[in-house]
Amino acid sequence: MSPSTPVRRRAASRKASFVVIANRLPVDRDIGPDGTVQWRKSPGGLVTALEPVMRRNGGAWIGWHGAADEKIAPFHHDGIDLVPVHLTAAEIKNYYEGFSNATLWPLYHDVVAHPEFHREWWDAYVAVNKRFAERAAKAAGRDAVVWVQDYQLQLVPKMLRELRPDLRIGFFLHIPFPPTELFGQLPWRRQILEGLLGADLVGFQLPGAAQNFVRLVRQRVGYKTHRDTVYLPDGRSVLAKAYPISIDAADFEALARRPETTARAEEIRRSLGNPQHVLLGIDRLDYTKGLRQRLRAFGELIAEGKIDVDDAVFIQVATPSRERVDQYRILRDDIDRLVGRINGDVGRIGQQPITYLHASYPRSEMAALYRAADVMVVTPLRDGMNLVAKEYVACRYDNLGALVLSEFAGASAELKQAYQVNPYDINGTKAALLQAMSASDQENSRRMKAMRKQVNENDIDHWASNFLDELITDRDPHEMRLRPVKTPLARDF
Ligand code: F6P
Repeated sequence: MSPSTPVRRRAASRKASFVVIANRLPVDRDIGPDGTVQWRKSPGGLVTALEPVMRRNGGAWIGWHGAADEKIAPFHHDGIDLVPVHLTAAEIKNYYEGFSNATLWPLYHDVVAHPEFHREWWDAYVAVNKRFAERAAKAAGRDAVVWVQDYQLQLVPKMLRELRPDLRIGFFLHIPFPPTELFGQLPWRRQILEGLLGADLVGFQLPGAAQNFVRLVRQRVGYKTHRDTVYLPDGRSVLAKAYPISIDAADFEALARRPETTARAEEIRRSLGNPQHVLLGIDRLDYTKGLRQRLRAFGELIAEGKIDVDDAVFIQVATPSRERVDQYRILRDDIDRLVGRINGDVGRIGQQPITYLHASYPRSEMAALYRAADVMVVTPLRDGMNLVAKEYVACRYDNLGALVLSEFAGASAELKQAYQVNPYDINGTKAALLQAMSASDQENSRRMKAMRKQVNENDIDHWASNFLDELITDRDPHEMRLRPVKTPLARDF
């Protein structure tokens, strides 16, 4: 679709009664050899879950299109109005790579890397958040429901409320929210807290994160709080609660059940020499994911003779991510070196213990990898949720396979039957890997059945409907002085 089609102009003038604001649009752009532009829905649970709600409510999605210095007019795609927000090259550097991913990202993930604090990054974060808020204020109809997503946009709720007090505003943080001691390092801590308090409902992955937020508001802003509610001096109140995000479990299972997925899973195992054990890691190449510790654990097991290099292969997929941020470049070099060293030290001709793939794959290939893996290794040092763990479970309709899961991934609160590990404890991780590899099918099946029940019952629709129900529900006026929703959302959850 070219930028000048009439559909685009129509989308620009229509007002939405449901608006999602996220750093990125839920579409990727393909430019053909003849220059024709095509937008494709990006894979991901969030857009799948919200699509039906958006279609029924004339929904709009506001987000960055991924390129520098390019203004694209709003357009309509597959039932949703898309409102692109432009970023200059300097804003990508300061707002996206800088404040979002080199300040907030490490700070919110237990400072596993050192967060950098730069005033010019903060200024860009404020300016870009303002742009998103202004775009949303224009796109939203009277009394619309607006849902702001994630750490890149924490100032938007307050900015938007100032522009449009009629809106019902929700915010959801996809990553962890740090304890008060770490959050306290942030020079702009009060502005962030006040930004979030512009929302009526602030959602987190885990109850502990919501509690951290309420405690911080009490300590740093001085507002009165009671349990999960913050009382603002203007009479408004804000609710802070946990809504653990999930996946489209039925869709993953359907993908896993396809005959072509089964055939591809068999082909993957064959091409590895049909080893007794296939271990798998699939992660964005991020320092929060615990790749170093995990690969070292596996390498040591082989070096110590506890695993025979002929019997086991570790496939590690590392999806390229944020490649212009220093810490990510350093990590890539470290992992390249570590994989080379382990394969060099303990490998044999034709027998590389680690198959390392620095690439991203379509969902069909991921499903085949999940089906091919006997042991899924998800060992982040800190993770908001980790949907890979849930995807693996959804794909194992055969009730086989074992999940080794970090206790510092949000998913560990729900997937209790996984082999849980402290990823910093390399000996403990080694023991868990051995336990998972040597467990009987019966034992793994017992664990997998329980985890599948959890994932199937708490899928992405469940997450979205829980959040939106809470957001649009009127509460006791003495307890939560929210304005009534005048345009209830049409939904089919
Ligand atoms: O987990 C947080 C998150 O921002 C996701 O929403 C996103 O899919 C992922 O990290 C990758 O982020 P980026 O937009 O920086 O590539």
